[in-house]
Amino acid sequence: MADLDVHVRATMDRDRDWIRELIRGRWAAEFVFVHGETFYPDRLPGFLAEADGEQAGLATYTTAGGQCEIVTLDSLKPGRGIGGALIRSVREQAEREGCRRLFLTTTNDNLRALRFYQRKGFTIAAVRPNAIAEARKHKPIPELGLDDIPIRDEIELELDLSGIGGKS
Ligand SMILES: CC(C)(COP(=O)(O)OP(=O)(O)OC[C@H]1O[C@@H](n2cnc3c(N)ncnc32)[C@H](O)[C@@H]1OP(=O)(O)O)[C@@H](O)C(=O)NCCC(=O)NCCS
Repeated sequence: MADLDVHVRATMDRDRDWIRELIRGRWAAEFVFVHGETFYPDRLPGFLAEADGEQAGLATYTTAGGQCEIVTLDSLKPGRGIGGALIRSVREQAEREGCRRLFLTTTNDNLRALRFYQRKGFTIAAVRPNAIAEARKHKPIPELGLDDIPIRDEIELELDLSGIGGKS
């Protein structure tokens, strides 16, 4: 399918309710629990993708200590260029803020995300075996994920923005 005509803009206060609903619907709670930390995406900066005048995707992120972490990335129309456009916007923002590293965490079952990020130049930075057992104490994460693969491990992927190493 052809890419859509996607418009990406920074999220605003008036998007908060929509963001909360989206995150609750797609991530089983209003918050994300990752590498032992809790994030509320509706309180984070983000980018919203619109296609044909409708919300089509969301990325939220946080920056600290020269690093930018993508906390959530959701495309409502997969395979149409929305995820790519959102990643580009977060990356440009991270570069504007002088970040040396852009990173995120996904889970072992999410082969689509692993493919997606690696094709965008991300590399695996860490694997946290069985991290989801701890996350399940905080929110209801199903046993089986995409393709009925048991959800078990956190996989951290990173993109070097420092210009060293030729990756960016
Ligand atoms: C991972 C995700 C954000 C990618 O978003 P997307 O809008 O599909 O991204 P794009 O369309 O820019 O690129 C997707 C790639 O998959 C390909 N693709 C084709 N058909 C597809 C389909 N039906 N579904 C998914 N991807 C498809 C695209 O062609 C593209 O491949 P390319 O790199 O060879 O060009 C999206 O699949 C998603 O929202 N997943 C659920 C939430 C999630 O797992 N988030 C990431 C964890 S933080």
